Amino acid sequence: MSVTALIPAAGRGTRIGGARPKQFLPLAGVPMLARTLAVFQSSDDIDAIVVVVPAGEETSCRDEIVARYGVSKATRIVAGGASRQASVAAGLRALGADASIVVIHDAARPFVTAGLIRRVLAAAESSGAAIAALPVVDTLKRRSPDGRGLATVEREGLWAAQTPQAFRRDLIVEACARAAADGFLGTDDASLVERLGHPVTLVEGDPSNLKITRAGDLRVAEDVVAVGEPGR
Ligand code: CTP
Ligand code: MG
Repeated sequence: MSVTALIPAAGRGTRIGGARPKQFLPLAGVPMLARTLAVFQSSDDIDAIVVVVPAGEETSCRDEIVARYGVSKATRIVAGGASRQASVAAGLRALGADASIVVIHDAARPFVTAGLIRRVLAAAESSGAAIAALPVVDTLKRRSPDGRGLATVEREGLWAAQTPQAFRRDLIVEACARAAADGFLGTDDASLVERLGHPVTLVEGDPSNLKITRAGDLRVAEDVVAVGEPGR
């Protein structure tokens, strides 16, 4: 059984609005994407890495990130698409013949740990599909479309999905193909598998596995790195 990590890193980072897409921005001097890749590089559970980058960034990713930071498992770097889902589909097309399990993880979550990857993989190996997720702790409100009404959403049973999300290769490939054929666009990979009626196992994620989405998250991430690397 061979496990491939698929890292979508082809977004534009519009909500952060930086000069470069956020995955290429330095976090305490090291690009976010390099930090994310380093976790998969050093994980014994990962055999290969496919990196999906914006079209035209393949060579710079290879030279400035993969080679420079010694990510030797990342032998395939491919161009993504207009949506995250299209980028994941491009990554799936680039899988090696031997890949039997695929673990998908956003470049924008650089604080993932080898331990969390291992727990999600173990669950996916037995059930075919598993995701990291956190039980929702906040009280949720839904505003009415006119902005005047407010309602409280029942929190019981709600989880916030993270990545990593791991799948048997044949299952995620079929789910992606079906979604494309149906014109369905999901916000995560598991939603495509759920549509097939296949169960997805929830694995308790890690609150420090932050997704860097807005400018404020970048500042929090700098602080997290500073605490994790004392003496910097
Ligand atoms: N992603 C991708 N291809 C896309 C869009 C997103 O590979 N067409 C990747 C991003 O690079 C990121 C992950 O999917 O690692 C999660 O997406 P998100 O946090 O939304 O990043 P962006 O789409 O880049 O940011 P924004 O939505 O603010 O533009
Ligand atoms: Mg996005």
